[in-house]
Amino acid sequence: MKLFVILLILKTASLSHGATTSKCPCSDPQLCKPILTTPKKETFVYSSFPNNWMKYDWKKITTIAVCYSNASLLCYAHSQGVRVVRQADFTKGNLTDAADRHRWVLEHVKYVEDNFLDGLNVDYEQAISKDQPKLRDALTALIRELSDALRRRYKNPQLSVAIAWSPDCIDIRCYDYQRLTQIADLAIVMAYDERSQIFGECVAWANSAVNQTSTGLKKFLQLGIPADKLVLGLPWYGYDYPCLHYTKDNRCLMKEVLYHGAPCSDAAGVQLNYSVMKGQLLKMSFTGRMWDIASQSPYFSYKHKDSGDVSQVWYDDAQSLRIKYKFADQMSLRGVGVFHADTIDYSDTPEGKQERADMWGALPDRK
Ligand SMILES: *[C@@H]1O[C@H](CO)[C@@H](O)[C@H](O)[C@H]1NC(C)=O
Ligand SMILES: *[C@@H]1O[C@H](CO)[C@@H](O)[C@H](O)[C@H]1NC(C)=O
Ligand SMILES: *[C@@H]1O[C@H](CO)[C@@H](O)[C@H](O)[C@H]1NC(C)=O
Ligand SMILES: *[C@@H]1O[C@H](CO)[C@@H](O)[C@H](O)[C@H]1NC(C)=O
Repeated sequence: MKLFVILLILKTASLSHGATTSKCPCSDPQLCKPILTTPKKETFVYSSFPNNWMKYDWKKITTIAVCYSNASLLCYAHSQGVRVVRQADFTKGNLTDAADRHRWVLEHVKYVEDNFLDGLNVDYEQAISKDQPKLRDALTALIRELSDALRRRYKNPQLSVAIAWSPDCIDIRCYDYQRLTQIADLAIVMAYDERSQIFGECVAWANSAVNQTSTGLKKFLQLGIPADKLVLGLPWYGYDYPCLHYTKDNRCLMKEVLYHGAPCSDAAGVQLNYSVMKGQLLKMSFTGRMWDIASQSPYFSYKHKDSGDVSQVWYDDAQSLRIKYKFADQMSLRGVGVFHADTIDYSDTPEGKQERADMWGALPDRK
């Protein structure tokens, strides 16, 4: 029965292959063709909201990963030589069910075709524990099947996977990182939310700490994963942590919130956009911007107006990001990533213009 279903789906697939019914939305039909050249270094930018992209610094981007569809963006990106890929996740269906995977692969390849995109970015983050090898292999199979389907159809598609900052089962993501990165063209290392599982003292600390990122990257390299497959994804957002106890030396002890077996987690805080931290909260701080050497990250503390409670904010700004972009280069990685571009102020106020100049300006030039 199952085999029959698969055959049926395969048949439908071969019929629909290459037969997109979409019409090119760009004034120049050339702009609907996929980008074929591969840049030496990637600057891989996630875009989460459709209303700011016209103010991005397109000279810095090589790939834009969108979670929405916008034809003007496609035409513009291609006119700038920038790849457009769609963010994808396997949320519905059963990973170990080949027919379910096949349905998913077809749906996504068709989406790429219909929207004249250059590929896909798969951001699967669900828990797969060490004792679930079947599930682990099913995830690898999904990526393999997607890769095969894309490569049958396109000359040089871009398939990337988002991976945790370390291969050590972070948040119980015990994936087969070696094979995933062999299949995909790029792996975007999510060098953020690094405090998702805290086993030491329950204190506020950096979202993206250079020393921790470095430990994770070395483990990927030790697995034999080539540095030029890895893109260092860095955050344009941070965390606001309410302090249960605030020490004289500016340490913020947090409430213990369990996460995947760790007694303390960044779930004790909330994620904030860069523009909120830099544009509003920093002005309210009683410490001013401080600098943490081990993580190479800025932070500050402020009092809430009404309650008087103290919060500590850990974030990244142009200075810390420049250091981390440079670190990616020193490690000979394929490039850097931004998660995500819509956390800064795109208004035409002087503050907005300054934020854009700072944050986009810190990104490396396209090579
Ligand atoms: C695409 O984005 C532009 C700029 O944000 C917007 O004006 C336009 O309405 C969007 N188009 C669609 C179809 O969403
Ligand atoms: C997924 O499929 C496998 C194999 O067919 C089965 O053992 C498992 O129970 C299914 N899981 C769910 C949640 O349906
Ligand atoms: C990073 O530095 C912090 C602060 O010195 C330290 O507590 C932590 O153990 C270091 N992490 C790694 C992975 O070296
Ligand atoms: C961050 O910015 C996005 C888009 O600019 C907005 O939709 C979202 O609500 C903001 N989030 C916070 C926590 O301010």
